[in-house]
Amino acid sequence: MQIQLDMKKLRFLLIGVLSILMINIAMAQENKASILVLIHSDNGGTYEMAEELARGIESEGNAKAIIKQVKASQNPKLKDIPVASINELATYDGIAFGSPVYFGNISTGMSEFLAKTVDLWSNHALEGKPATVFMSSGSGAGRELAMQSFWNSLAVHGMVIVSNGIRGYENIDKTIPQGNTVLGTTSLTSLKTVERPSQSERYLVALQGKNFAKVSLALKGSQSASALHNVSINEKAADINEVLKQKNIILPSLPKPVGNYQLYKRSGNLVYINQVALKDGKIVNPGKLGVDVNEEQVKESTRLTMLNVLSILKEAVGGDLNRVKQCVQLVGTFNTTDTFTKHADLMNTASDLTVEVFGEKGKHTRNTSGANSLPVGSSVSIQAIFEVE
Ligand SMILES: Cc1cc2nc3c(=O)[nH]c(=O)nc-3n(C[C@H](O)[C@H](O)[C@H](O)COP(=O)(O)O)c2cc1C
Repeated sequence: MQIQLDMKKLRFLLIGVLSILMINIAMAQENKASILVLIHSDNGGTYEMAEELARGIESEGNAKAIIKQVKASQNPKLKDIPVASINELATYDGIAFGSPVYFGNISTGMSEFLAKTVDLWSNHALEGKPATVFMSSGSGAGRELAMQSFWNSLAVHGMVIVSNGIRGYENIDKTIPQGNTVLGTTSLTSLKTVERPSQSERYLVALQGKNFAKVSLALKGSQSASALHNVSINEKAADINEVLKQKNIILPSLPKPVGNYQLYKRSGNLVYINQVALKDGKIVNPGKLGVDVNEEQVKESTRLTMLNVLSILKEAVGGDLNRVKQCVQLVGTFNTTDTFTKHADLMNTASDLTVEVFGEKGKHTRNTSGANSLPVGSSVSIQAIFEVE
């Protein structure tokens, strides 16, 4: 009897401790500052600085750093860094911006990205949000001018710009030039007396990150509620690049043209793409439905063809599928016998995929038809028209 009572007490005690632990974990997550480190980098110098800055941010304990870039890069050092969408900027507690110094200014890639933040600006979405800047330069000529030009855009957004002051100066190696400035840290990559970023530049940019995390934590939650409300309306649009990841939809590498044509053509805001079921230079499930291949095989080829279309579309929008405004029209042609009538059923494979990826924006007009033969033996061909930003 006594043992039964003790077990009961122990169970209550355990449940109590677990509940307190879970409440504490939830509170800690809520209080954590989420900081975007948004970069453009051509050769990886800015990215190396970003990694150090992120380390500095996370050394503050209650802050998490997420490195993203403003556009996709083929550089092996950069190609796996996710591309940020414009709208997601509003969801962070602070943003650290990094860019190369080009002609005493920020890079074109960064400036093109900032030019697309008009909706955020009109919704006051970044107002009151802390921002800091860091750069990678060659000799360092014009680096403070470049950082100031960064500040111009951030000031227009009403961001709280966090400068660096003379932080960390006492601990840096003063026998060689270093990229310390009061506005933010740079790296002097063309002064090769030591490997760049130098140890001191790494130290300085990490300190900048740590300080920025402190400020972001202090300001967390202080942005105006209406701004956040306005943005949450925009935020309802999903990040397409994330959707692909979550749904494990892997886009194939770009197919090569098999004739004198281009993979896509843009006219105004419309992108035109035509594809067949090509994979690694070969047609998948070639032939006529009902003679050489069955319906399941044609559906497999239809999905593959649509994935090819999406892969080309991604190329057409500079790597960021969030720039797709809508799918306007799909036209599917299938190699069928004369009596076949279920073309729509086959084409649903492509339409479903488009809606799965783009949601409402993926809904389109459509035409399907049968043909006696299709180019290079494909059982399906798709023509697609998308409207893009
Ligand atoms: C067109 C061009 C202009 C540049 N202008 C400057 C400049 O004004 N000042 C400077 O210090 N470095 C300048 N650089 C050097 C870059 O800032 C430097 O290579 C930087 O590390 C590149 O960053 P990344 O490795 O992230 O691409 C320039 C480089 C290029 C290609």
